[in-house]
Amino acid sequence: MKIAVAKEIDPSEPRVAASPDTVKKFKALGVDIAVEPGAGVKSGMPDSEFTAAGATVSADAVKDADIVIKVKRPEASELAKYKRGALVIAIMDPYGNDAAIKMMADAGISAFAMELMPRITRAQVMDVLSSQANLAGYRAVIEAAEAFGRAFPMMMTAAGTVPAAKVFVMGVGVAGLQAIATARRLGAVVTATDVRPATKEQVESLGAKFLAVEDEEFKNAQTAGGYAKEMSKEYQAKQAALTAEHIKKQDIIITTALIPGRPAPRLVTTEMVKSMKPGSVLVDLAVERGGNVEGVRSGETADIDGVKIVGFPNLASRVAASASSLYARNLLSFIETLIDKSTKALAVNWDDELVKATALTKDGAVIHPNFQPKSA
Ligand code: NAI
Repeated sequence: MKIAVAKEIDPSEPRVAASPDTVKKFKALGVDIAVEPGAGVKSGMPDSEFTAAGATVSADAVKDADIVIKVKRPEASELAKYKRGALVIAIMDPYGNDAAIKMMADAGISAFAMELMPRITRAQVMDVLSSQANLAGYRAVIEAAEAFGRAFPMMMTAAGTVPAAKVFVMGVGVAGLQAIATARRLGAVVTATDVRPATKEQVESLGAKFLAVEDEEFKNAQTAGGYAKEMSKEYQAKQAALTAEHIKKQDIIITTALIPGRPAPRLVTTEMVKSMKPGSVLVDLAVERGGNVEGVRSGETADIDGVKIVGFPNLASRVAASASSLYARNLLSFIETLIDKSTKALAVNWDDELVKATALTKDGAVIHPNFQPKSA
């Protein structure tokens, strides 16, 4: 059996789907690994390290591969090179991309979307949303510190005292929790808000202060799956009134609020941005889903009256080496479930809940229930 590690063709994507560490583990399972030349270079993993780990490096790595692993969904030019029937596993960004999913079905591949992995205990080690969001939360604070003209920790020096930076984290999922922890480590005074009651204790356990409208709606804001619901207009107005006063006094705001399948909630208006002191910084991690901050622009740092709004998409890719290592481990753990250990052959159990949740296409058709082509 052969697994190919594709080089990303999107020039803005520095991550890679394997690491020398995972190559060694695949080899130990009896699998051959072929890597496209330069696939890991932007993540600090040169071809020589893959070769030393037991992989072959070849320009036709994907030809004849039983499984192709990637970071992003393959484009038409890539699909044309894959063997029909190959498994292609990546972060597929399936929502709203029906034509791209159909194209993968037409190419005869079995496409798997890692971000659809169920959040159950068995699959925790395969959870790419968590592995990447954790790094994005960390990086958001680093970006904020870079754009901020002042220090984070309080410093008492002979020349005077520098006050600690005030950081407010809005949305406390995986990324938000890591942002709180990172800002605390840098010495900031941290507050945080979320609509899910379970987050209050998590925020406090990290040494930050929790701020939220804790009414009846808040008590029921968490879905059975652990995600946030879209809040009512009334709740959003109360939330805005509470946070508006707080925002005025903050130096840094990190926003991470998302609702599955919906646009990101708008939490910070231009008026709120303008109420902040010049030199303050907002980092909006929700920018790819429309943004939590009014005026955020993808890939840019906007400036409103001296307040910066940082809108880098895909923040995890700005910690590419760490992001690749963790993503590679997520993939290894999933692929281990697709291989028969004794025969060392591909043995996909199409009834397994992990496979059912992630498989988008098979045998020329779109098989995932959520992405069925609309009947004309
Ligand atoms: P996410 O990326 O979907 O959303 C980020 C945060 O934004 C969430 O905490 C959400 O409550 C919050 N949010 C939504 N609307 C908001 C608003 N109007 N104001 C303020 N905050 C708002 O969430 P993520 O990071 O994917 O985590 C979701 C849940 O999944 C969490 O409970 C997390 O602990 C859980 N989880 C479970 C895992 C497992 O069991 N394997 C793994 C990872 C996460």
